[in-house]
Amino acid sequence: MNVLVTAGPTREAIDPVRYLTNRSSGKMGYEIAAAFAREGHAVLLVSGPTALDLPEGVDFLPVESAAEMHDAVSRQIGRMRIAVFAAAVADYRPLRVADGKIKKSKQPLTLELEPTPDILGSARTEFGFRGTLVGFAAETSDLEAQARDKLVRKGCDLVVANDVSQPGIGFDSDVNEVLLVRPDRIEPLPRASKHELARTLVRIMLEIHHEKTNVANPSCTSD
Ligand code: CTP
Repeated sequence: MNVLVTAGPTREAIDPVRYLTNRSSGKMGYEIAAAFAREGHAVLLVSGPTALDLPEGVDFLPVESAAEMHDAVSRQIGRMRIAVFAAAVADYRPLRVADGKIKKSKQPLTLELEPTPDILGSARTEFGFRGTLVGFAAETSDLEAQARDKLVRKGCDLVVANDVSQPGIGFDSDVNEVLLVRPDRIEPLPRASKHELARTLVRIMLEIHHEKTNVANPSCTSD
C-alpha cells in the first residue's frame, strides 16, 4: 500500500545565508517511515533537512521550506492510501526574503512574518485526499482539547498528540509519550523509544485504515 510520511523541520529563508527553523530532529517521522517499509509498504518520505540516515527501502523527496513541502505533497498525495504528517512545519516565514546578506547595524531589526501554507489542513480540501489521514499535535497546554480540535478542523482519522512542556520527551529526544485522539476514542500510550512507538503507531494506523476501508466498502478486504 502507498504511504506518504512528512518529517523533519522546515527552513524559511531570511536572506541567502540565514533561515528560521525549529528543534525538530525528524526522528519520529523517520521511524514511522521505516516501520511501514519493514511491513512491506511503499513509503514516500517527504522531509525537511535532518541529520538522519535514510531508512532502508523508503523513497525520499528532500525539501527545505513549507512551500516546497506543500508542493511536493500536493503532487504526490493523490496516489496514497495513508498520509502521516509528522513534519514540524514552520507556521510563519519572512514576508520578504532579502536578495543579499542583511548587513548588521546598531539599530534593532524587525522581521515581518506571514503564515505558511497549512499542508495537513489542505489534505481534505485543496488536495481532495480521501485516504487515512494522520496528524501530529505538539502542545504545551490542554493537550486533549487542542488535539481534538485539530482532529476535527483538519479532517484527520487520528491525531498523535504530545505535551512538549514535559522535559525529556518529544522534540529532539529519543523517547516520546503520546495521547492518541480519534473521533470515537482517546488512548494514552506509555512512554517508549521512538523506534518502539513507531511500531505501535503503524499497527494502529493500519487498523484504522482497514476499519475505514471495510466500512466504506464492505466487500473490499484486501486493503
Ligand atoms: N502542519 C502542516 N503544515 C503546517 C503546519 C502544520 O502540515 N503549515 C501539520 C504538522 O505536520 C502536524 C500538524 O499540522 O501534523 C500540527 O501542526 P500545528 O502547527 O501544531 O497545528 P495548527 O493547526 O497550526 O495549530 P497551532 O499551531 O495553533 O497549535
